[in-house]
Formats: sequence, C-alpha cells, structure tokens
Amino acid sequence: MNNKVKVLAISGSIRKRSYNKALLMSIKDHRQDIDMEIFDLENIPMYNEDIEANMPISVKIFKQKIKEADLVLIATPEYNYSISGVLKNALDWASRPKNDNSFSLKPVGIMGVSPGSLGTSRAQYHLRQIGVGLNMRILNRPEIMIAGAKDKFNDEDRLVDEKSIKLIDDLINEMIKMID
Ligand SMILES: Cc1cc2nc3c(=O)[nH]c(=O)nc-3n(C[C@H](O)[C@H](O)[C@H](O)COP(=O)(O)O)c2cc1C
Repeated sequence: MNNKVKVLAISGSIRKRSYNKALLMSIKDHRQDIDMEIFDLENIPMYNEDIEANMPISVKIFKQKIKEADLVLIATPEYNYSISGVLKNALDWASRPKNDNSFSLKPVGIMGVSPGSLGTSRAQYHLRQIGVGLNMRILNRPEIMIAGAKDKFNDEDRLVDEKSIKLIDDLINEMIKMID
C-alpha cells in the first residue's frame, strides 16, 4: 500500500518545453518521498455553461484528481501580468458546478518561473485572488518566484538553482503540515 502524500501538480503552460512544466518535472524527480502526478491541461476544453450539466470526461477526471489529492501544486506562467488563459479556464471548470467546487479547502502551493526578471510575481498575486474565490487554502510562504529561467535549468530541462530547490523543499514540507 502506498502511504505517500498524494500531490496533484498543474502547469499553467501546455507547451512542450515549458519552464513551468519543467519545474514540476524537476520536483517530481527530486521528491521521491511524495506521490506526485503532473496533470496536463491540454485536453481541457474551453469552459461553457451550456455543457456544464454534462461535463466532458477530461474535466470530470481533472475534478476527481483534485479531490483525491492531499495537496495541489500549481506552477503558473505570467501572461500579460496575470495567469494564462489555459490555467484560468481549468480553474473555472474545477469550481463548477456551484455546489461541487473541487478546490474548496484544498491545500494549494503556488509557484512560477519566467525568463524575465519578476518570476511571475504579478501572475501569482492574481492566482492568490482567484484562490480566494475558490476557497483554496494557499500557503503564504515561501513564495517561489523564479526569474531568469534560462540560467536556472540545465540542458535536460531540470531545475539546477540550489536556492530555488531549497525554497521548494521548504514549501512542500510546510504544505505537508497543512494536510488534515
Ligand atoms: C501571451 C504572452 C504574454 C506574456 N506576458 C508576460 C508577462 O506579462 N510577464 C512576463 O514576465 N512574461 C510574459 N511572457 C513571457 C513568458 O513568461 C514566457 O513565454 C514563459 O516562458 C512562459 O512560461 P512557460 O515557459 O512555462 O511556457 C508572456 C508570454 C506570452 C506568450
């Protein structure tokens, strides 16, 4: 039987060599003590209230995986000072129907990486605001805002920046304490 903490990880970017995806894959490699699944948002269709009563199977699976997870990690890119449409769309689906918000009271850790100098800080503060709407329990600190991505990953797309690795370890350790 697997007694490891169950973590669902979501990248707000679906591109193949996304830094945010690479960040989550690096954590999965590094933290063998947790049971981490990286969920790809590629197959989540655009939200449409007309099909909410008969949700697409990919959305049903997504909602179920959130519910089953002890913790959720979200790695967000910054698009025009906010989170990506891909991520917002997925969060909107997860919040529906009204009486079945998959994120309610879920412990959530957020992080992000960008090639620029602010490390997705503006997007993360938007994500925190959305998290209030979804009644998430988002950990306040440490904040993981990885700037200058090009120098923080190796040729195999793995995070090699020791300071960021330490912060992520701290975040996950704090999050484990949040599990009911
Ligand atoms: C539509 C779009 C908007 C962007 N806006 C921002 C921005 O506001 N701030 C920023 O630092 N980078 C911005 N970027 C650059 C992204 O940070 C960069 O493309 C990053 O690699 C995306 O994350 P990913 O590597 O996980 O796909 C933007 C990129 C795109 C495609």
